[in-house]
Amino acid sequence: MASTTLICDTEPWKDLKAHVEDFKNTHLRDLMNDKERCQSMMVEFDGMLLDYSRQRATLETMDKLDKLAEAASLKQHINRMYSGEHINSTENRSVLHVALRAPRDAVIYSDGKNVVPDVWNVLDKIKAFSEKVRSGSWVGATGKPLKDVIAIGIGGSFLGPLFVHTALQTDPEAAEFAKGRQLRFLANVDPIDVARNIAGLNPETTLVVVVSKTFTTAETMLNARTLREWISSALGPCAVAKHMVAVSTNLTLVEKFGIDTNNAFAFWDWVGGRYSVCSAVGVLPLSLQYGFPIVEKFLKGASSIDQHFCSAPFEKNIPVLLGLLSVWNVSFLGYPARAILPYSQALEKFAPHIQQVSMESNGKGVSIDGVPLPYEAGEIDFGEPGTNGQHSFYQLIHQGRVIPCDFIGIVKSQQPVYLKGELVSNHDELMSNFFAQPDALAYGKTSEQLLKENVPQHLIPHKTFSGNRPSLSLLLPSLNAYNIGQLLASYEHRIAVEGFVWGINSFDQWGVELGKSLATQVRKQLHASRTKGDPVEGFNFSTTTLLTRYLEASSDIPADPPTLLPRI
Ligand code: F6P
Repeated sequence: MASTTLICDTEPWKDLKAHVEDFKNTHLRDLMNDKERCQSMMVEFDGMLLDYSRQRATLETMDKLDKLAEAASLKQHINRMYSGEHINSTENRSVLHVALRAPRDAVIYSDGKNVVPDVWNVLDKIKAFSEKVRSGSWVGATGKPLKDVIAIGIGGSFLGPLFVHTALQTDPEAAEFAKGRQLRFLANVDPIDVARNIAGLNPETTLVVVVSKTFTTAETMLNARTLREWISSALGPCAVAKHMVAVSTNLTLVEKFGIDTNNAFAFWDWVGGRYSVCSAVGVLPLSLQYGFPIVEKFLKGASSIDQHFCSAPFEKNIPVLLGLLSVWNVSFLGYPARAILPYSQALEKFAPHIQQVSMESNGKGVSIDGVPLPYEAGEIDFGEPGTNGQHSFYQLIHQGRVIPCDFIGIVKSQQPVYLKGELVSNHDELMSNFFAQPDALAYGKTSEQLLKENVPQHLIPHKTFSGNRPSLSLLLPSLNAYNIGQLLASYEHRIAVEGFVWGINSFDQWGVELGKSLATQVRKQLHASRTKGDPVEGFNFSTTTLLTRYLEASSDIPADPPTLLPRI
């Protein structure tokens, strides 16, 4: 496409716009009766089953979406990504998170260099280091083994590793390897998060991993300085070398901070922050907790989806289908949000991670060439594990706004529970909801059905469910490290597919900068007002009033207070 041509100007886009009319009188109830249609909307790969028969889509829709993909040069975009072209054009970078989980003998180029050996050098270094720490051959300043880890990082340097850690915590194999160890995550610059993280931990037995791609993120660096103080005030400044390590692309700043670069684990500018969980960002803390072999299984699961994504035909390609259906829902059916509903408590941090991957990637207002978009890109992601969500926001999903839902189910629970005399196992009870909810959304309940049930007339409008609400179901065989990797990569690629079709750059994030720079001005003002009593100046009336109130109400804080760490 020429640089100013937008996807909405193409025939397939216009054709899909017109096709929406065909759904005016088509209810999912009718679509679900077409067995042949439903059969062709089931796709299986490597143990994962995707059922998208409850989408408001027909085979004709899928055919039209395929044409849209062609018009958007989707295949070429995928190929360009895998071949290391600088598809993140505003930052002039390759986008190669697939290289992070590629097999040792794979060859993936960025700027004329095969990056796979570099990836494996770091993985080998993590393996060796994590084994030393876990075996107790790497000890802290007072000679004690380091059994607890605090990973400091925010955004992409936090959410992905937290999701994977939360998912592995109850996996029996992973849990066995984590016995006696703790992994915590310090993200928020709120001192309460510091307090929560250090509560109950002894600096003598704690290793702090500072995770920051840039090593400049204000929150992370202040938290890092805070925990450096926590360690050195307890064990002396020399202890930092034994108790702090780093993950970054900026080894110069790591060294400046005072961390020995021998204890720094690199990654590269071709790894986007939110796509970095498979780099040292996730692999180091997770290997410290679970051992490298478990994390390697996670990488293999992701790699399996990477191979599927770049080689499977689109009609059998899970990330491509997920991405095209999302575009259909957002851009054509007009549903701006998506609910991510894992029927697994172990996936409780999956939606928060996908929020960043999706919304930071695709929440854009201009095309990759800088042309303002006449259509909305991106979607609003939120979610909770079932069945908790059912007792929270499902009311809105069933009778209020239409929100396409992703139901994620697991065949075999990580932690089965059976009670003698109960009708079903606890996991079957959970999964009964997983199977029932999509049909409730799709079919709804009519006033005729309610009348037959003798529901009083005045309650009929309240008890009617319009149905016709789309969802898709993803069934995984289990939730071990491998499956977690598959799930992660499926969503990462789905989001890329959406961005490729919308014609945006899914790999930059300029939208986070403005707020950060305004905070710098506020920080300077707070310092000047607290230390020199300077009046609040240079802000609008609202901010001036709020800042003045804040300063006045906390004027008992001394201008130059001594170091104070949380006391819980
Ligand atoms: O919030 C913006 C952001 O740049 C994210 O993209 C990134 O994941 C996060 O901050 C953390 O950045 P860093 O790893 O450089 O500390």
